[in-house]
Amino acid sequence: MTTVGIIGSGQLGSAIARLAIEAGYQVVLSNSRGPETLADTVAELGPRASAATSREAAAAGDIVVVSVPVKAFPDVPAAPLAGKTVIDTCNYGPERDGHIPELDSSSLTSSELLLRYIPDALIVKAFNNIFFKHLLSLARPAGAPDRSYLPIAGDSAPAKAAAIEFIDSIGYSVVDAGPLVDSWRQATGTPVWGTPYGPYSNEKGQPGGADAIRAALATATRRPTY
Ligand SMILES: NC(=O)c1ccc[n+]([C@@H]2O[C@H](COP(=O)([O-])OP(=O)(O)OC[C@H]3O[C@@H](n4cnc5c(N)ncnc54)[C@H](OP(=O)(O)O)[C@@H]3O)[C@@H](O)[C@H]2O)c1
Repeated sequence: MTTVGIIGSGQLGSAIARLAIEAGYQVVLSNSRGPETLADTVAELGPRASAATSREAAAAGDIVVVSVPVKAFPDVPAAPLAGKTVIDTCNYGPERDGHIPELDSSSLTSSELLLRYIPDALIVKAFNNIFFKHLLSLARPAGAPDRSYLPIAGDSAPAKAAAIEFIDSIGYSVVDAGPLVDSWRQATGTPVWGTPYGPYSNEKGQPGGADAIRAALATATRRPTY
């Protein structure tokens, strides 16, 4: 049985945990305040969910989701993530994260910054462009005509394959958006960020098909400064 480790169990991390549980995975959640603060979430998610420290969640996961504010990247544990597929959902926002010069100047993508802290992990950028409520409501089984697509970016083909298998199993297909260096195409404020799945005011969202996601990625322009 595959175990999913979750580092950062807020709005998005908990939504991914919920879909993973529904798909039959074991899920180990973690946050900054400690496992006891996740007791209600774990109780709600049921017997396949448990809570641990972020180091323990990283060690337990066959695949690990990092879903924290970018300013928390220095706390993501490197050693237990070595050699693992790590799905990075994170978006940079200086109003929350403080100014990070390499991200302000667009000389690095936020996933490349995360890689500096967990250099032996196999990072795949995914889920960062979809509102957590839309993620929950737009999940569909494989083959459904109204299935939505998510862009993914990464440098490791095996990690991408593992991420695609996971994402497919929880209700989404993917569009390959290239290596991590190109993951700015799905970053905050780009055409593929949020818009294809409808306005936040409609919590049900609207399906984002493959063509819409490809077109949005193709029309992205790099934001030079924040
Ligand atoms: N919300 C969305 O719809 C959405 C969509 C796409 C992408 N994202 C991105 O995904 C990331 C998470 O977003 P969110 O909205 O889920 O945030 P959130 O609700 O504020 O949750 C953040 C989570 O990260 C944990 N955390 C913070 N610092 C940590 C640390 N040093 N070590 C371990 N865990 C830590 C928090 O734990 P504590 O509560 O214990 O501090 C919390 O569980 C962000 O980068 C965001 O930009 C969010």
